[in-house]
Amino acid sequence: MGIDVACGTFFDVCGIVGYLGDREALDIVISGLKRLEYRGYDSAGVALAADGAIEWRKKQGKIANLVGAIEDDPLPSATIGIGHTRWATHGAPTDANSHPHVARRIAIVHNGIIENHAPLRAELEAAGAEFTSETDSEVAAHLLESAVAGGAGLVDAMRQVVSRLEGAFTLVAIDAQDPDRIVAARRNSPLVVGVGDGEYFLASDVAAFIEHTRDAIELGQDQVVELTRDGVNVTTFDGAPAQTKAFHVDWDLQAAQKQGYDWFMRKEIFEQPHAVADTLLGRLNDNGELVLDEIRISPEELRRINKIVIVACGTAFYAGLVAKYAIEHWTRIPCEVEIASEFRYRDPIIDPMTLVVTISQSGETADTLMAIRHAREQHAKVIAICNTNGATIPRESDAVIYTHAGPEIGVASTKGFTTQLVACYLLGLYLAQVRGMKYGDEIAAVLGELERMPQEIQHLLDNQAPILELAEELKEEPSILFLGRHVGYPVALEGALKLKELAYIHAEGFPAGELKHGPIALVSQDLPMFVVVPPGGRDQLRDKVISNIAEVKARGARTIVLAEAGDEEARKHADHFIELPRISTLLQPLVAIVPLQLFACEVATLRGHDVDQPRNLAKSVTVE
Ligand code: M6R
Repeated sequence: MGIDVACGTFFDVCGIVGYLGDREALDIVISGLKRLEYRGYDSAGVALAADGAIEWRKKQGKIANLVGAIEDDPLPSATIGIGHTRWATHGAPTDANSHPHVARRIAIVHNGIIENHAPLRAELEAAGAEFTSETDSEVAAHLLESAVAGGAGLVDAMRQVVSRLEGAFTLVAIDAQDPDRIVAARRNSPLVVGVGDGEYFLASDVAAFIEHTRDAIELGQDQVVELTRDGVNVTTFDGAPAQTKAFHVDWDLQAAQKQGYDWFMRKEIFEQPHAVADTLLGRLNDNGELVLDEIRISPEELRRINKIVIVACGTAFYAGLVAKYAIEHWTRIPCEVEIASEFRYRDPIIDPMTLVVTISQSGETADTLMAIRHAREQHAKVIAICNTNGATIPRESDAVIYTHAGPEIGVASTKGFTTQLVACYLLGLYLAQVRGMKYGDEIAAVLGELERMPQEIQHLLDNQAPILELAEELKEEPSILFLGRHVGYPVALEGALKLKELAYIHAEGFPAGELKHGPIALVSQDLPMFVVVPPGGRDQLRDKVISNIAEVKARGARTIVLAEAGDEEARKHADHFIELPRISTLLQPLVAIVPLQLFACEVATLRGHDVDQPRNLAKSVTVE
């Protein structure tokens, strides 16, 4: 069976680890892979350079399978090793297609797509190379092997190879005859270096080495990194010295562990009060003005902006939909929100007066990255909202607002979403301040309410019992709908996405008012429908949603109504009533999403699914 890279029918989103030091490389690589398993879990493998040979094991399925294979057939002791955990959308995730790929003295792991793999493979096969997999990656192993066999050192060989590759790649290689060196190269695919005491690490994400060191080096685009026992050397693809940036990771191993929770996702839901508080921290100066230190775009430039375009994927896109309501209301700047994978293909109208805001938890989502590149080619200014220090998206943007959620390891985004909302609100308020659209006391009032959010979220978490009971009641339902209006609509979309991706239940979110234009035909006896009711007393929004609930209830739906405490009218229409704290309309998503996250997590648990690693998904989607 062949693969079809050019059509985009095959791609990897993988986790990579490399270790060079004086400890057992296998242990360190395996523990690093376990921390990266959220990136992909179709297969895993390791390769070591020991006693002048490459020794490797690779296995289809989760890392536990690989560990079992190594127990059955142990690997020798070594202090240098590389490892890989893979996610594939097409092409069988077989043992043979797993990484590492080995060509005589060379072993490589690869993340990305080598788009011109077909002609390279034909050329290598004509020259006698024997391929053992169907992957695009294996060409890199044979090309490197041929270069070192021709006399090149591993670094030069890597430079020769990358000059022949098209596409996106992180490539990491070891050479059996050079057991004191790991060489890696990156283009459009993540890689960071960890610097320990006499030992060095390479990984797709700092989580892989956080238990050994919190000192890291960001790698730029098109760079080659060489780890030796004496240190780290980074150069460009042409061999010139490269600029790098060292950074210290501000979270520790504890943050990357489950700490008694059954799932990372549940732990991350419960971390939201902290994550929201941390994201708000240090945003005011002594005069009570909002300061966003990271915004390197001058107030004059921000005053010239005449349009905002928010670009993101998945949950981050829904955060963007909420942001539109707040930003337009507070700044009166027209704001569009677009799915990143659609953005550049429709030739969007953007120019130097457009502010593009990208939202990405991982900072590595390829669709979003490509949208940024397109926007910058049109000379638009780009602000990234991101949770990952040193990731590609903030590096390639003009400015960044970091969310301080700590590592999000569960594949389903939770604290990522709520902290993205906070960052969007901060950006909206900052723009309003800079452009004189709001008085200082008005901004302070919203900030004051934002500061109350951690305790409100905590209150919801402390009172989760009814949600867990509801999950038990609805766990076998084949289909569940979510309704919302205004900012409740993106909450409905996000609630439905959580349920789809974790519980594998058909779920859809609709704008409550749109239901009567078609989707109401789906309503049948006992169909569960979650409805997010806006806070009352401020405009007609709430009353309209109450009417929408009455419409579906009249047709037999089972209603689960999320409304603020004391809304007795909403309660009347509810088969189940979930009390939300009293919050102003625009900020309500910060609390309304929490019960929906808990519900999806619990239903998936009750259905026996792997909540942290749902089928077919990966945490960071680093190819388009
Ligand atoms: O890392 P990003 O925020 O860029 O990721 C965007 C989406 O891939 C992500 O939100 C995805 O939809 C999650 N699985 C949602 O839970």
